[in-house]
Amino acid sequence: MSSAQCKTPALRWLAGGLLAGAAMLAGCGGDGVSVNDTVPSSGDGWQWVLPAYFPVPKVPETNPMSQAKVDLGRHLFYDRRLSGNGQQSCASCHQQDKAFTDGLGRAIGSTGMVHPRGAQGLANVVYNATLTWANPSLVTLEKQMEVPLFGDDPVEMGVNDHNRAEVLERLRAEPAYAPKFAAAFPGVATPLDWGQVIQAIASFQRSLLSGNSRYDQYLQGKAPLSAPETRGMQLFFGEKAECFHCHGSFNLNDQIVHASSRVVETPFHNTGLYNLGGTGAFPEPNRGVFELTALVKDMGFFRAPSLRNVEVTAPYMHDGSIATLEDVLDFYAAGGRRISTGPYAGDGRQNPHKSELVSLIDLNAQDKSDLVAFLKTLTDHEFLSDSRHSDPWPRP
Ligand code: HEC
Ligand code: HEC
Repeated sequence: MSSAQCKTPALRWLAGGLLAGAAMLAGCGGDGVSVNDTVPSSGDGWQWVLPAYFPVPKVPETNPMSQAKVDLGRHLFYDRRLSGNGQQSCASCHQQDKAFTDGLGRAIGSTGMVHPRGAQGLANVVYNATLTWANPSLVTLEKQMEVPLFGDDPVEMGVNDHNRAEVLERLRAEPAYAPKFAAAFPGVATPLDWGQVIQAIASFQRSLLSGNSRYDQYLQGKAPLSAPETRGMQLFFGEKAECFHCHGSFNLNDQIVHASSRVVETPFHNTGLYNLGGTGAFPEPNRGVFELTALVKDMGFFRAPSLRNVEVTAPYMHDGSIATLEDVLDFYAAGGRRISTGPYAGDGRQNPHKSELVSLIDLNAQDKSDLVAFLKTLTDHEFLSDSRHSDPWPRP
């Protein structure tokens, strides 16, 4: 079946060739694809449970998935003993009911240091081609995790040379861990080291899959969308609002890696949030990819986030500088943000590095409210309360 026959704009990414044959989805005729297909993966007994239009995730050969590792990783993810001063776990900043964000514009570490950027959601993080807001070189969850664990600028979990051994001793003292480490890393002579901690948490994060929003149910022919939601979806995937150029994949972003990816694209974009003094600059240390490359062409370049569950991840943008979805739509409708006073004054609409796609966006009040209605169909309530992803420790 030619994908060009599919008239439903939401299926643009399918038409783009993710899955041949997927065009028989709702809206394109046919009776919909089977959902929750189980696909075998690299590790013993682990099965991915995915909507049919989600590709099989890519997993490093050195850290295959297993149920035992996911279970151990879940316990570690929610364990405050994993931070230097015992004050924070990963889950302090990545809270399930907020799609693993924390509700703050900028995260606050275990010793009180303010992070320059906001905590990111972890839904479908396994598919992200690069990690964090603007770092083309961080490409595995294992490598990324060294930042919150061991980083000192800012301090997040605050594990350092002085407490590194002590933190592991705390974990060894927890009776629940010995059998879990043994099950997750069978045949390993000295269980419980940092490498294993990191591998297990990475496996848990790879299991955080969100694909049962109302939008997904609509794609599967199981639930209708309202008239405003449908208009919003058509705008989102259409040339008037242009959103799909950067948020158009099955994961509502534009950086995807999966098991059979051949070419992995890793675009970053300047959306015109700032233009300090008309120079095109963004405020330090949030100048996007420029922070790493020092190339002017990378000024203000950030990764487009997945918009799944975006209803519960406010405030928005890398620094939390936009409070609500309505405000985000006002920002796009204006083609950027003009700040008239204060240290960040400047007209982001005129930022010379801004993506030309953001200039083209032309939205009236109705368009904006329709788009917000569509964005709210991306909330996966099952994911936000799924007991497989929740805190496993008994409450004190
Ligand atoms: C102090 C709050 C805080 C803690 C604690 C924390 N994170 Fe984060 N996390 C963040 C922030 C902020 C970012 C964005 C970082 C950036 O852009 O530089 C982030 C980004 C991430 C990302 C990248 C997501 C993406 O879409 O690219 C992953 C994965 C992640 N954190 C996992 C973890 C894990 C695992 C732990 C525990 C070992 C952890 N975090 C602890 C605040 C935190
Ligand atoms: C040129 C690429 C591009 C286009 C077009 C685009 N976006 Fe974005 N979007 C981004 C980037 C990049 C960010 C993050 C910017 C930052 O944090 O500095 C973002 C952030 C967002 C956020 C905030 C998400 C969060 O977790 O903070 C929302 C919501 C959003 N976009 C919705 C839309 C909608 C709706 C449209 C169409 C009207 C659209 N975007 C068009 C690239 C784009």
